[in-house]
Amino acid sequence: MNDSILKTIGVAFSVCLVCSLIVSSAAVSLRDLQNENKLNDRRIKVLQVADIYNPNESISEQFNQLESKFIDFKTGMLMDEYNNFSLEDYDQVVATKNPNLSSRVPTSKDIAIIKNRENVGKIYILRNNLGSVDKLILPIRGYGLWGTLYGYISIEDDFNTVSGIEFYEHKETPGLGAEVDNPNWKNSWKGKKIYKNNEVVLSVIKGKVDNTDSLAAYKVDGLSGATITSRGVSNMVSYWFGESGYSQLLKELDYES
Ligand SMILES: Cc1cc2nc3c(=O)[nH]c(=O)nc-3n(C[C@H](O)[C@H](O)[C@H](O)COP(=O)(O)O)c2cc1C
Repeated sequence: MNDSILKTIGVAFSVCLVCSLIVSSAAVSLRDLQNENKLNDRRIKVLQVADIYNPNESISEQFNQLESKFIDFKTGMLMDEYNNFSLEDYDQVVATKNPNLSSRVPTSKDIAIIKNRENVGKIYILRNNLGSVDKLILPIRGYGLWGTLYGYISIEDDFNTVSGIEFYEHKETPGLGAEVDNPNWKNSWKGKKIYKNNEVVLSVIKGKVDNTDSLAAYKVDGLSGATITSRGVSNMVSYWFGESGYSQLLKELDYES
């Protein structure tokens, strides 16, 4: 009989089997493409934060304008080699999952709540026509309200002035914490100063910056209704520009220039 229970189950099972095969083969065959798109998204953010992104040109060609370097966070030294990693493939966030390549951040110092910091990071350098440093593009990350925000800050050749900020991944709420992606807010970072007397002073305040304030250059408007995300961004700036992050490198470069 055509409407027997066994036949119905058999048809349902076959449909499920065919569908699951289609879905799993699509997932497998699209994995490389998804990874490539993810990499490209990140590269676009690096190009945008360096203010050199042109959507009409090839991403990889534009990316080649940048020089990448490993940074040893213990010494602040830039390196071209690190173990057997290639500069192109090294992913410092992946390295934080490997105890041989990362270190636990003591709770008292973990202001950005990153838990593990890679021993060696990767930064990008944009050089001018004369070959000297024009901008540095430095990865930053830290916890907001719902999860870790991952992004980049670019700084000018005085190694103290912000030239841009971009986030490529976060879990903050649209309209609240996700306003970290608002172009007006990102623009307001341009020209802000990080260090004053060797201390990281730059922070996202609550409310609007009063431009008559003598410390206005060290303050960024808070994201309204998103004090926790704002604090998270301040904390990640303090952490990554502090002694566990880029401060040794930046001091070194400043003495050289
Ligand atoms: C559904 C929901 C989503 C929220 N998302 C965020 C967020 O992404 N970032 C944030 O800082 N605060 C977020 N908040 C608000 C925080 O809980 C908290 O009230 C706020 O950070 C306080 O900021 P305020 O002092 O500027 O009002 C959210 C609240 C709700 C109810």
